[in-house]
Amino acid sequence: MLTIGVDIGGTKVAAGVVDHDGQILDKVKYPTPTDDPRRLAEVVGRAVAELRSRKPDGEIGAVGVGVAGFVDEDRATVQVAVNLGLRDEPLKERVQQHVDLPVVIENDANAAAWAEARFGAGQGSDHIVCVTLGTGIGGGLVLGGALHRGRYGVAAEVGHYRMVPHGRRCACGNHGCWEQYASGRALVAEGQDLARTDPQRGERLLKLADGVVEQISGRIITQAAMEGDPAALECFRIVGDWAGLGLADLAAILDPECFVLGGGVSDAGDIILDPVRASFARHVSGRPGRRLAEVRVAELGGEAGIAGAGDLARY
Ligand code: BGC
Ligand code: NA
Ligand code: ZN
Repeated sequence: MLTIGVDIGGTKVAAGVVDHDGQILDKVKYPTPTDDPRRLAEVVGRAVAELRSRKPDGEIGAVGVGVAGFVDEDRATVQVAVNLGLRDEPLKERVQQHVDLPVVIENDANAAAWAEARFGAGQGSDHIVCVTLGTGIGGGLVLGGALHRGRYGVAAEVGHYRMVPHGRRCACGNHGCWEQYASGRALVAEGQDLARTDPQRGERLLKLADGVVEQISGRIITQAAMEGDPAALECFRIVGDWAGLGLADLAAILDPECFVLGGGVSDAGDIILDPVRASFARHVSGRPGRRLAEVRVAELGGEAGIAGAGDLARY
């Protein structure tokens, strides 16, 4: 049986046909409608219909939808999605109005973690903590080979772990959440802040952004860092340092065999991985002596959410 995996992100809805090995056989993409959750469900329905129309009848048996928010234990309702502006959203019911196949709703990072565990960087490890550094920070726990959802579905919502008491404001209503310091958005904030306060040092970043501070994006900072621009590398160091601090705390609680870093920020590879590893090793408890979890970079990139949501729809 094939399934369809859908990944609802802040800017695009990406969907793909997923086989038993997590391979994506066909793919479509639409912009995310942000005005109305009903339109969001419609777009998911359209993506599913389009993919099904290109396959013989009956080949596709289920649909898994990964969404960037707190998803309940029934895999049906989005309790809150701060970066998508959803609250108490009956997403499964709404999608089901457009799709006559079994539908499950998953947290996006849980889906990505599942895919990395089964088909990507986590293969061969049994205790995996996956952290996605994207617009926000997502988390997924695959412990003893099973996805750990907690009692109410929202285990591993690590992005809203309070890293800094009374720290930066977060869309969730709290202050100091980890995702305000170590996400893609935090990276952009660092880059823009640097260019604004020290345009000379931020020269390369500004050049790539046509001189407009607000146009400095994650992609631009990554490009500049890959060219060796010291300002861009500093942004990655700052964000990587915060990320490593969080991993040290997670290791204190969960003692995983490996961390898998995913999300857009991880596209920078060693540029982000090196400072994360250094910070993790510096802050983790029980050193020296303790066995350290490995920190790996995700292997499935942007496709992890689709592959994981599709695969989880089988269970
Ligand atoms: C949300 C999570 C999501 C993560 C990554 C966080 O802000 O609370 O549900 O997994 O962003 O998209
Ligand atoms: Na999660
Ligand atoms: Zn928060």
